[in-house]
Amino acid sequence: MGQETRFTITPHPSPVAADERAVLLENPGFGRVFTDHMVTVKWTSDKGWHDAQVGARRPFQLDPAAAVLHYAQEIFEGMKAYRLADGSVTLFRPDENARRFNESAARMAMPDVPEELFLAAIESLVEIDRGWIPGGEGSLYLRPFMFASEPFLGVRPASEYIFCVIACPVGAYFKGGAKPVTLWVSDDYTRAAPGGTGAAKCGGNYAASLVAQAEASRHGCDQVVFLDAAEHRWVEELGGMNIFFAMDDGSLVTPPLGTILPGITRKSLITLARDAGIVVQEQPYSFDQWQADAASGRLREAFACGTAAVVAAIGEVRHAGGSFLIGDGGTGPLTTRLREELVGIQRGTLADTRGWLRRA
Ligand code: PLP
Ligand code: COI
Repeated sequence: MGQETRFTITPHPSPVAADERAVLLENPGFGRVFTDHMVTVKWTSDKGWHDAQVGARRPFQLDPAAAVLHYAQEIFEGMKAYRLADGSVTLFRPDENARRFNESAARMAMPDVPEELFLAAIESLVEIDRGWIPGGEGSLYLRPFMFASEPFLGVRPASEYIFCVIACPVGAYFKGGAKPVTLWVSDDYTRAAPGGTGAAKCGGNYAASLVAQAEASRHGCDQVVFLDAAEHRWVEELGGMNIFFAMDDGSLVTPPLGTILPGITRKSLITLARDAGIVVQEQPYSFDQWQADAASGRLREAFACGTAAVVAAIGEVRHAGGSFLIGDGGTGPLTTRLREELVGIQRGTLADTRGWLRRA
């Protein structure tokens, strides 16, 4: 495909009727309601990227030997489009998603998706499914992904891939809405090891996290917290979010990059906090320290952050040996302030002085 990305656009012959769509948009939940269309682009080792299509959302036809079904050569992204009060639509830092997508692709021995192709695919889908973007506090969650489609059972990087984007209107990620979340510290499972795929957004990382997340659910918790693989001591991240700790001296602590997903929300919050004069330390923080700091009051707040979760206060932590509260178990002032600032920029009620929004 040339420098200019050209999509063949074939609108859905029978899209969901406007009145039915309006009902679905009232309470979409997370990840269950999908829009009418999808984008697909193929890659083969001889032709590179080609056959870019915007068309009706439909099942794939896959050979049972498609490499993704056997060796999980798959990556994805998560990003949101927002409808602003003036009716315009924006994306939040989509160039960062494009960059991370290609870092994941490199780790999984997959082809690079040129940034202009990635962004054009996102924008084409947002354009054709504009009517699916909820107003108010909802947003359109976009899920770009790429998988190995070559039918071949030998273990090596595939020579055929499909890049696809689907979308779903979403509300709050957690059932409890803005209520503080409860975490389960996994004793038995780790998410990623040095040299592994922890920094890549690949499906396999999530497959490996499910048993730990199910254990968290069994203990009545919203999310699992993973400790590091080497010492099983250092807090890394949650099943689908990064984590921050707010100390009594006004500073923030967050685990360093390496084996965790380099979250775009994490990166944005670090910038917002530092610009506001808050000291942010990207440094290892142990589970023992976490418990001690919660007990002594040195730890004032903790929050989870990510595209799906936005910024969610952590109220309680449960583990094999007991449980503890963070502060009074509610949402603290710094969590609220950072959340409001981030959401304000994303939704256009605060000035975007850093050029983070892209009109779609
Ligand atoms: N960590 C994990 C494991 C995630 O799945 C996510 C969500 O994408 C994040 C962190 C947060 O990343 P981001 O802020 O880019 O959505
Ligand atoms: C996201 O926040 O985009 C994710 O991919 C995480 C998942 C929990 C939905």
